Amino acid sequence: MKKLMMIFLLVGLQMSYAQKNLIPQPKSLELQTGDLIFGKNWVIISPKNTNEANYLKDFLEKNFKMNVEISKKEIKGKPTIQLLQNTQLKENYYSLKVAKDIVIEAKDGKGIFYGIQSLIQLLQENESTGKLSYLTIKDEPTFQWRGMHLDCCRHFFPKEFVKKYIDFIAMYKMNTFHWHLTDDQGWRIEIKKYPKLTEIGAWRNGSMIGAYSDQKFDNERYGGYYTQEDIKEIVKYAADRHVNIVPEIEMPGHAVAAISSYPNLGCTGKPLEVENKWGVFEDVFCPKEETFQFLENVLTEVMALFPSKTIHIGGDECPKENWKKCEHCQALIKKYNLKDEHGLQSYFVQRIEKFLNSKGRKIIGWDEILEGGLAPNAAVMSWRGFEGGIEAAKQKHFVVMTPGDYCYFDHYQGDPKNEPLAFGGRTTVEKVYSFNPIPKELTNEEQKYILGAQGNVWTEYILNPKHVEYMVFPRIAALSEVLWGKKSDYNEFQKRLFRHFSLLDILDINYSKSIFEVVGKSINPDNKNAVLYQLKGFDGSNGIFYTLDGTTPTTNSIAYTQPIAINKSAKIQAAYFENGIMKSKIFSQDVFVSKSTGKKVTLDNQPSEKYAAIGNQTLTDGIIGDPAKFGSDWLGFSGKDVVATIDLGKEMPYSVVKTNFVKSNENWIHLPQTVQLFVSVDGKIFNKIKEISNADIVKANGKLNINIGNQNARFIKMIATNTTKIPNGFAGAGYPAWLFVDEISIE
Ligand code: ACM
Ligand code: ZN
Repeated sequence: MKKLMMIFLLVGLQMSYAQKNLIPQPKSLELQTGDLIFGKNWVIISPKNTNEANYLKDFLEKNFKMNVEISKKEIKGKPTIQLLQNTQLKENYYSLKVAKDIVIEAKDGKGIFYGIQSLIQLLQENESTGKLSYLTIKDEPTFQWRGMHLDCCRHFFPKEFVKKYIDFIAMYKMNTFHWHLTDDQGWRIEIKKYPKLTEIGAWRNGSMIGAYSDQKFDNERYGGYYTQEDIKEIVKYAADRHVNIVPEIEMPGHAVAAISSYPNLGCTGKPLEVENKWGVFEDVFCPKEETFQFLENVLTEVMALFPSKTIHIGGDECPKENWKKCEHCQALIKKYNLKDEHGLQSYFVQRIEKFLNSKGRKIIGWDEILEGGLAPNAAVMSWRGFEGGIEAAKQKHFVVMTPGDYCYFDHYQGDPKNEPLAFGGRTTVEKVYSFNPIPKELTNEEQKYILGAQGNVWTEYILNPKHVEYMVFPRIAALSEVLWGKKSDYNEFQKRLFRHFSLLDILDINYSKSIFEVVGKSINPDNKNAVLYQLKGFDGSNGIFYTLDGTTPTTNSIAYTQPIAINKSAKIQAAYFENGIMKSKIFSQDVFVSKSTGKKVTLDNQPSEKYAAIGNQTLTDGIIGDPAKFGSDWLGFSGKDVVATIDLGKEMPYSVVKTNFVKSNENWIHLPQTVQLFVSVDGKIFNKIKEISNADIVKANGKLNINIGNQNARFIKMIATNTTKIPNGFAGAGYPAWLFVDEISIE
């Protein structure tokens, strides 16, 4: 018995030794007895795969300072890496064997390249000991679309960085680079037939600075573009790394840069300037013959540059205001008996699809291309959640999942207080790792239409290459493991990721250390306490110390063991420590305790599940929603009123109600039309005691401090009326408006 235990123990130890770093984790890894001893010198034997052999040699020499010789035969005293092609094997599969020599075997260069990525990680992990355990890896991916996107329009990134970005994709065995090349703020691809696209369209006079809500601008001329020679070089670079580039040429919306260059492409013909503002704009392509001729000519040059079978045609966020006013557009709707302007968008996309299909290419578009009817062969990129992807798969169309909550790497990855200004939202490494691209709503048959997923990097707030790296790393690592298809539990992944950071250090990649951060949340309290506040750090509850008086935490502060009970207002400050050293930034959270804190809340209308941190109790959890973080701590209602009743448990005196609403019209969030307050002694008959007008709510910017005179009652009810439908002239016009409320404090 004892002996058996020992064997298990040894095997367990060895497993963790050899599996330490690999990301994405391979499908199968077996350890064998023995070690390959290595130093700085290697020989590569590769009868067929010169490209991969050169890649590996360059990588090892440049990054690990090794000496590598590509040879036809073994060289005495130097370990050998053999790259073997075996056409009998499955596409994408590779095996990697470490014994006396290292052998990577695959059907072709692509599989060998994946094996090389695993080998690089093994070598880096074991470089300090110079010993590689004998092992066999057999591995292949689950998803076929494993992508990263980069917006080079809002900010322009030089050719050299685009190549580096492709290296990032390749190092995680991902295979798709979605290159966003045209938008309102800049046209970035040289088109020989239309030189003004880059003479005029690639440059803007000024950019937004700071948060969108500040509406501040600089007036510096900003821009840049990729010449066709640049693009050929980048496409070749990507192909050598088995990465396909899917170019995106946006239509019919996000077209201001194109229309600025050639005003006839719009409905009005009026001159425009390349946008200096972020957002969604009414000047879109007019579906006239001249426009289709232009787009076909542009796409012809695009197809000559990019061998990709799939071309992205955009399709998102196309306001219909100009089409409604345009005689030509209205005549077209009549002529083709289209239902409305959505039908016209569908007509637009179908015409472009027909053209691209006739040249042997396929289209993919953002999920708005479902509206008004999907083009017959189009694939859908689902970004506004999973719904578009589900609908497309049910219609037997291929889908790439990029739901904002999991895949938008322009969101914050840590506490916004500690992060550079970002678009909004909160997409932590843990959240990315929890992503499952296959929605459970789909049948087995429908699931086959989910090609995979990608991370999207929109660059309104991302100004330079180092900043791109920061937003991408390490979330890309988590996404790659989701897509390669063998996940562990998050804690195990996080430990592997932590060790993987040393490779990122060697490669001089600017990655976020947000995984060390302490995160906290108010949980449903017991009957004894107003607030129970839970903390979690890099190692669960371990290593966290906190204070409640606003002082800086040290290892002499209170050690965290269980949710903190709070009964009077306090400032929690916490940090994660290892061996006495603070490893995280300081987490800080104000908790406000009032007469309503921890008291039961009843809601007549349900909030969206997505924006309901701990359900109804969010409104009395002691945490006041931060307008910069409307993804958490707030209750979000789509198109519905807030009708909230708080039961104070017994009759008591009070005279002030404090509450907050978010105004973020660019994110479809609007202030309420009115706020009404009622009190009741029995919970049945409510007396109205106050009504606040929209004008006053706007004046207070949603932050209300309402004097209600001396009341003495057990129940208090608040009704905040929703704008319901977003008015014309705002982002998302016609869709239900969001109403975000947090905390109802009663004093
Ligand atoms: C998008 O994020 N507008 C596709
Ligand atoms: Zn028109």
